Amino acid sequence: DAAPAVLPSLLLCDFGDLKGEVAKLHDAGARVLHLDVMDGHFVPNMTYAMPIVSGLRRHTDMPLDVHLMISDPLKYAGPMVDAGADMLTFHVEAVRDAAETAARIRDLGVSVGVALNPETPLGSLRECLANVDMVLVMSVEAGFGGQKFNPIALEKLQTLRSEFPDLLLQIDGGIDATTIGPARAAGCDLFVVGSAIFKKGDYKAAISTLDDQIRS
Ligand code: DX5
Ligand code: ZN
Repeated sequence: DAAPAVLPSLLLCDFGDLKGEVAKLHDAGARVLHLDVMDGHFVPNMTYAMPIVSGLRRHTDMPLDVHLMISDPLKYAGPMVDAGADMLTFHVEAVRDAAETAARIRDLGVSVGVALNPETPLGSLRECLANVDMVLVMSVEAGFGGQKFNPIALEKLQTLRSEFPDLLLQIDGGIDATTIGPARAAGCDLFVVGSAIFKKGDYKAAISTLDDQIRS
C-alpha cells in the first residue's frame, strides 16, 4: 500500500491569507493539500470553487486533492481540472451512476476518488470500485469541520482493506491524535485533518505528532 500521509484540509484555515497558509503547511511537512468544495446544496455549507483552486495552484507544487461535496460533480469536474486539481473525489450519494461518473472524471486525466458518508453502506460502491483510484471513507457527515469522529468508518476501512489490498483509502473527519492510530490500524493510507492542525498554532508540531502515529 501507499506511504501513509497526513493531508491538511483547507476548511478551517485563514482564507484571508491562503498563500501564507500554504507556505506554512509546506514548511510544516505537508505534501498534499485537501480542498473541501461545498455547494450549499449537497451539503448545507458553502466554501469555494475554481478561482480558489487556481489561485492555490499558482502558489504551490503540492498535489491538490479536491473533495467535491456538490450535487453535480460532472458539471464542474472539467473546470476543476482546468483550475489545477490533481485528484477529484465525488460523493456516491450525489450521483445516479457512480461508475459512469468515475469513468468520466478519469477521462479528464486526473485520479478519481469516491466518498461515502457514515450512514451510506459500502454496498453503494460496488459498481464503481473498478473505476476509482481511491475510496474516501467519511468519519463525519460531510459539511463541517470540527465534528466528532464516527467509528463506523473503521469497520468500513477494515472491510475495504481486506477485500482490496491495493486500493488507496482515505479518511476524513474528526482525525486527531487519538483517532489516527486506529484508522491506520484499519488499513487507511491518507488522513485528512482540519481541526487538529488549524486549532493549533504550531502546524509543524501538530503534523509531526500525527505523522509519528502512522509511520510507527
Ligand atoms: C468535512 C470535510 C473535512 C473537514 C475535516 O465535510 O470534508 O475535510 O474539514 O475537518 P476536521 O478534521 O475538523 O473534522
Ligand atoms: Zn474533506
